[in-house]
Amino acid sequence: MRIVDIIIKKRDHKELTKEEIDFFVEGFVKNEIQDYQAASWAMAVLLNGMTPRETTDLTLAIAHSGDTLDLSDVVDIAIDKHSSGGVGDKTTLAVLPVVAACGLPVGKMSGRGLGFSGGTLDKMESIPGFRVDLTAEEFKKQLHDVGMVLSGQSADLAPADGKLYALRDVTGTVKSMPLIASSIMSKKIASGVQAIVLDVKLGLGAFMETLEEARELAKRMVAIGELAGRKTVAVLSDMNQPLGYAVGNSLEVLEAIDTLQGGGPDDFIEHCLHVSAQMLLLGKRAEKMAEARSMCEAAIADGSAFEKFRELISVQGGNLSYIDDPSKLPKAKLIETVAAPRSGSLLQVHARLVGEATVTLGAGRSKKDDAIDHAVGVIIHHKVGDIINGGEPLFTIHANDAELLTQARETILKAHLFSDDPVAPLPLFYE
Ligand code: URA
Repeated sequence: MRIVDIIIKKRDHKELTKEEIDFFVEGFVKNEIQDYQAASWAMAVLLNGMTPRETTDLTLAIAHSGDTLDLSDVVDIAIDKHSSGGVGDKTTLAVLPVVAACGLPVGKMSGRGLGFSGGTLDKMESIPGFRVDLTAEEFKKQLHDVGMVLSGQSADLAPADGKLYALRDVTGTVKSMPLIASSIMSKKIASGVQAIVLDVKLGLGAFMETLEEARELAKRMVAIGELAGRKTVAVLSDMNQPLGYAVGNSLEVLEAIDTLQGGGPDDFIEHCLHVSAQMLLLGKRAEKMAEARSMCEAAIADGSAFEKFRELISVQGGNLSYIDDPSKLPKAKLIETVAAPRSGSLLQVHARLVGEATVTLGAGRSKKDDAIDHAVGVIIHHKVGDIINGGEPLFTIHANDAELLTQARETILKAHLFSDDPVAPLPLFYE
């Protein structure tokens, strides 16, 4: 078999066999297939799609590209949640400790920033020392001892996803349903969790813009999960405007800490409570939604969720003094608040433009090996539907470069649209 023939086959809209997909994934992990060939293959998949059968084969090949964990001897049930990618989506940082504090073990394998969307691992690395490269053995031990793990793809677990993910980020090949579905579900299968809540985002700042696309992605992922013997549910949530107010790595960590301490933006709290409650239901720690929600609310109110977050940071090598005094987290040199150019109701805060502006500032990557600037980002001050007076603060940019700050200011101003008529707030969840 030759990789070039497989690329040509996909370029010509043909269906790849399981053997061809396995050949690609194995060769890529062993560095026998070059990045430029993998990028070309990914672009052919993005343009021409994959059948559900090809998507499932790809998922299983990626899941088995390294070790797969069997957690059944570690805990009775371990759960995970995964977002399909969005702007300001720091849900994992709050939901994991809430759910773990409610007594349900959570084993999570996360990703880095992808295109305009932020990544949990990049956010967590704002905390000096925090390790995201746990080995399979460390993953299991920590799940057993602490009831909570947050890792990336190490050399042992789904390494093909880590490699392909980094390549897709910088080659315009993120927005592909089969590549997203296989990336997410391969991590879940490799990590051995028995139950998964999928948070499929839709809207201007999501990879799936319409309800139909999001529903299709959700259905494909749930079907793959069921096939692999995992209890899987999906929620479809809004990503037209950023979630919460903070976008950018350490700014998002700050917002998550604030939320775990009982503060935080209303939409973000509500989103986290709903996702956490879904996890408790699926993990059979509660029977009814109302019961699950009050357990999650109580975990925040009594401080146990925040304590769990501290435990996670400490056990994965993070410097706890940055959590206890978050003012130590990376801070940008230039902080500028931009005023609303006019009065009116806020009609749109275009999430993708906001995400792209933060990548421009340095919060994401343009090339595979680019370093992340953890300090930069933006705080959005309003939500769609808010009534705003001209001249009041609209957003605050955190930058380390004056030229990039100017570019980001223009983009984020364009992201805000106003109306003279009242505007209804956006829903948080669709289905
Ligand atoms: N999250 C992932 O883990 N992979 C994707 O491709 C998109 C979102």
